[in-house]
Amino acid sequence: MSLVDLPLLPLGKGRDLTAERGVECLGDLPAASDPDLVARAIAAKEALGERVFVLGHHYQRDEVIQFADVTGDSFKLARDAAARPAAEFIVFCGVHFMAESADILTSDDQAVILPDLSAGCSMADMARLSQVEDAWDAMAAAGLQDNIVPVTYMNSSADIKAFCGRNGGVVCTSSNADVALEWAFDQKADVEGGGKVLFFPDQHLGRNTAVLKMGMTLDDCVVWNPLLPGGGLSVEQLQGAKMILWKGHCSVHGRFTTDVIDELRAKHEGIHILVHPECTHEVVLKADLVGSTEFIIKTIEAAEPGSTWAIGTELNLVQRLADAHPDKNIVFLDRNVCYCSTMNRIDLPHFVWAMESLVRGEVVNQIDVDDETEAHALVALQRMLDLPGKSHRD
Ligand code: 13P
Ligand code: SF4
Repeated sequence: MSLVDLPLLPLGKGRDLTAERGVECLGDLPAASDPDLVARAIAAKEALGERVFVLGHHYQRDEVIQFADVTGDSFKLARDAAARPAAEFIVFCGVHFMAESADILTSDDQAVILPDLSAGCSMADMARLSQVEDAWDAMAAAGLQDNIVPVTYMNSSADIKAFCGRNGGVVCTSSNADVALEWAFDQKADVEGGGKVLFFPDQHLGRNTAVLKMGMTLDDCVVWNPLLPGGGLSVEQLQGAKMILWKGHCSVHGRFTTDVIDELRAKHEGIHILVHPECTHEVVLKADLVGSTEFIIKTIEAAEPGSTWAIGTELNLVQRLADAHPDKNIVFLDRNVCYCSTMNRIDLPHFVWAMESLVRGEVVNQIDVDDETEAHALVALQRMLDLPGKSHRD
């Protein structure tokens, strides 16, 4: 059997550089054990000065977050990137879809850099443009073309955001999903049969927002499975639904369970359960509070000393909150370690390599969304940034 016939992609020699497992950073990365990495990162940042702006998502490792000029959830970082027109380089310590959004929201003469190109997002990968277009066509065939507004979670690729821009839709984040849904239904308030939302890629955020914030019922929601013909739904099911949820999820937040919540409540009287809306509906129903990463941080900051909290979100953030609030008892809502493996790919060697390359005048790992995609995606992102009132509710 030749190498090309192998069903599994070989690593190392003969690997496929177009597949994620084959993605690598060309060049001389410093070793992770290099004792000078911190000093090198400081020196590179000083050398670049105002020319560079470093953004860090809350799920990033401590070793990287210490160099961020601002930290935030995906909504805040998108806004912060757009508010720095003077920085020549935006180094995005986060994942691919966030860097794409930053590129869309910044000017053409600013370069957005993702220190490790393999920092993707498994949830974003669950909705591909061709699949979304097939679903859209099936919904049109069911006679729903005038009723549906596409709403995509920020955690999606730029071409999906562009699809929403082209088709009267909007982007949302975990901070503003309710406001975005309200906006979407308002667009179709006068259409016969009323409005419907096609929400992707995270079924949990869509369901939790629809049921717990918008007053819909579980029966108003159906799940479109892109791997089944017709999404696995009948025309009647599509016509009867208000929320058509894409069958996607976050592999990190999908791990939290109600069993662990029950166990913790039995063990610790008065414990507060605080979770992210990417968790399953059952987990969110059993939690005391639910909100974006910014909301989780602000809740812990405002919590009473001595209070006890179990937090269901990415472990780097939970660990950092526990370290920053030694007067509060903070535990992780899972028995096992649960980092986001792709967020963790941005480590100090990649950060130092990206920054030192910039110092040398070499732009590496630039995220550059093509002009047409960018123009349409910007429409959907701008609709989100223009949402009325509390479009960021933290
Ligand atoms: P937020 O930053 O919007 O809370 O999203 C969490 C997340 O999973 C990012 O990948
Ligand atoms: Fe994607 Fe989940 Fe990781 Fe966020 S935490 S980047 S949604 S896999």
